[in-house]
Amino acid sequence: MTLFAILTLFPDAVEPYLGASILGIAQEKGLARYQCVNFRDFARDRHRTVDDRPFGGGPGMVLRPEPIAACIEWLEQEHGTFRKLALCPAGKPFRQSMAEELSKDERVLLLCGRYEGYDQRLLDELGFETISLGDYVLSGGELGALAITEAAVRLIPGVLGDNRSAIEDSFQEGGGLDHPHFTRPRNWRGREVPEVLFSGNHKSIREWRAKEAQQRTRERRPDLADSDN
Ligand SMILES: C[S@@+](CC[C@H](N)C(=O)[O-])C[C@H]1O[C@@H](n2cnc3c(N)ncnc32)[C@H](O)[C@@H]1O
Repeated sequence: MTLFAILTLFPDAVEPYLGASILGIAQEKGLARYQCVNFRDFARDRHRTVDDRPFGGGPGMVLRPEPIAACIEWLEQEHGTFRKLALCPAGKPFRQSMAEELSKDERVLLLCGRYEGYDQRLLDELGFETISLGDYVLSGGELGALAITEAAVRLIPGVLGDNRSAIEDSFQEGGGLDHPHFTRPRNWRGREVPEVLFSGNHKSIREWRAKEAQQRTRERRPDLADSDN
């Protein structure tokens, strides 16, 4: 079972999502566990301060290292060491291959930043990997932490009703995009389902889907067309 610890100043925003749908089911089945911690609880001053002005000047505030380090030390005393990821737009892009790794890790810690981000010494001292969700800037790491948790948890065997769902998704086999899907009704607003899907010929269906997936990948994500992600 993988334990995901999410360190955030806004646990109320994160916890409901962890209890819903696939993430909630994974916890109920005993396949994943989540612990959401507010690192403000580890600030030692009267005002429970977690941020301060940046050395060297400039706008915004920076997260101080001490409360976050104290929070992590408390968690590690309780559970053992974690693989530590800090959400950061300047980090390494998150990929499906990392979701696969995390689904096999025992303990994963996700640190959600705010303001201008973290004091760099915290990341260096505690051995953080910095991970980006994409080339845009959000106000906090919470959505990223949830996205990473969900991407990893759905790959834990037994979480999805049918494990083939994850294997056949985009970015999995061969690293390309998924093929289009169709269900009932057979004709919807004059749009027909491709005939081959009714043929009963599994080989033809597989070939058609593979061709559609390749075409989509070439058109929408040429960067993936020649890579294996
Ligand atoms: C306003 S951002 C800080 C931006 C930072 N000064 C920069 O330009 O790289 C505040 C926090 O939101 C989170 N965040 C924002 N965009 C993100 C992204 N694309 N990927 C991951 N985390 C992000 C991070 O936790 C970050 O510390």
